[in-house]
Amino acid sequence: MSKLTAPFPAARFRRARKSPAIRALMAENEVSVNDLIWPVFLTEGEGVEDPVASMPGVLRRSVDRVTEAAKEAADLGIPAICLFPYTPMEKRTKDCAEAWNPENLTNRAIRAIKAVRPDLAIMTDVALDPYNIDGHDGFVVDGEIRNDETIEALVKQTLSQAEAGADIIGPSDMMDGRIAAMRNALEAGGHHNVLILSYAAKYASAFYGPFRDAVGATGALKGDKKTYQMNAANSDEALRLVTRDITEGADWVMVKPGMPYLDICSRVKRELEVPTFAYQVSGEYAMIRAAVQNGWIDGERAMAESLLCLKRAGCDGILTYFAPEMARALGA
Ligand code: PBG
Repeated sequence: MSKLTAPFPAARFRRARKSPAIRALMAENEVSVNDLIWPVFLTEGEGVEDPVASMPGVLRRSVDRVTEAAKEAADLGIPAICLFPYTPMEKRTKDCAEAWNPENLTNRAIRAIKAVRPDLAIMTDVALDPYNIDGHDGFVVDGEIRNDETIEALVKQTLSQAEAGADIIGPSDMMDGRIAAMRNALEAGGHHNVLILSYAAKYASAFYGPFRDAVGATGALKGDKKTYQMNAANSDEALRLVTRDITEGADWVMVKPGMPYLDICSRVKRELEVPTFAYQVSGEYAMIRAAVQNGWIDGERAMAESLLCLKRAGCDGILTYFAPEMARALGA
């Protein structure tokens, strides 16, 4: 990259901004539909589209409805969707056994979507929180979130999703050592081509609030997730975690949330040169939507800018609730 410039008026930077055509040629980054992964929420029933109050425009869908949504996403050219279940309260237990039930919501949805659109990649979430009566991503024993026992459960969950047909497994639990355990189990189970997109640098963030509402994990959760998710104060630690997860067998890594953590996205991509994804999380989406509802910002521009900035920071792809809207804005 050249830092060379001439003195004014030989150099006038405004020349390169003078028209849409010139600005288009000058652009260093752009968002494409190929960058998007669409997170969707699942719920029991049939014909159900249940709005998530804290995420205007986002629905919890029954399996038949999510199949329709998946077809639409594929038709828009979106390469992947990511499934998150709202597990019925009576199926949430201390042992979280629903997490690896081959007939759970996520696994049924994977099979239903693959039956109609095998070309659409499916990502799943590996963590216990939607199944845990305690609302945490790991087992809680005497008030402590247990690491090693949780890993055994995450491996079972991983295998059940791979067997149902998931393409990309997304461990969002932040336990130590889970990537190696999951990779070994996938290899031993013959799932050689199942990718792991590790939530490697996942911060203990206030911006997950609306998501916990969407999957019904708000009520159960006592305390916070600070003993397993990262401290927002840290940056070097993110590089160590990404290195660790890649070494253990993650194919791709994620930084989460997105916009408040652009510096982390940038360091991960530039210093470690690994496939880097960001999750534009529920709170980021809700903030933009709320401001739009109040007439305070232009929604389409804010959406496009927020995603472009993640690309500029170095992200190869972005999980975003705006995916279908962005795909349409791109002319799909
Ligand atoms: C839980 C999980 C969370 C999100 C994805 N997986 C919430 C949490 O860690 O509490 C957040 C996604 C979002 O806010 O959009 N394992």
